[in-house]
Amino acid sequence: MPETITVAQAHEALVDDHRRLHGLVARLGEAGDAAALATVLGELHEALTAHFNLEEKPGGLYDALGVCLAEYRVVLGQLVDDHFRIAGHVRDLRDRAAAAHGREPEGLFAEAKRLAELLAEHEKREHQLVDTATARGA
Ligand SMILES: [Fe+2]
Ligand SMILES: [Fe+2]
Repeated sequence: MPETITVAQAHEALVDDHRRLHGLVARLGEAGDAAALATVLGELHEALTAHFNLEEKPGGLYDALGVCLAEYRVVLGQLVDDHFRIAGHVRDLRDRAAAAHGREPEGLFAEAKRLAELLAEHEKREHQLVDTATARGA
């Protein structure tokens, strides 16, 4: 049986992962053309899928949060929906960037910027829940 993990431990285990994601998001803003953007989006999609799986797995962060913040289960459900939506958005954008073949599809870079904002918003809400839980000693 897996050991029970606290929110603080589960969050701590994801610190490097979150740092790596921030680095990838920063690279999104530096991509100079569609091909470079497609490369970063491909890496981001892989990293995000692994990250979201870690957060949602039994004994992971969301599990620990759900145990200690039962009244926040709806909010946790919305965060899981975000995972699905954001991963799909990254994949679609990567495919569009990869298919650009030297042309800059309309709005591609603006969408990448919006995607970075969505992800930052998601992480902010996640961190707020972690703060609420750890303030209760979880
Ligand atoms: Fe998340
Ligand atoms: Fe996260």
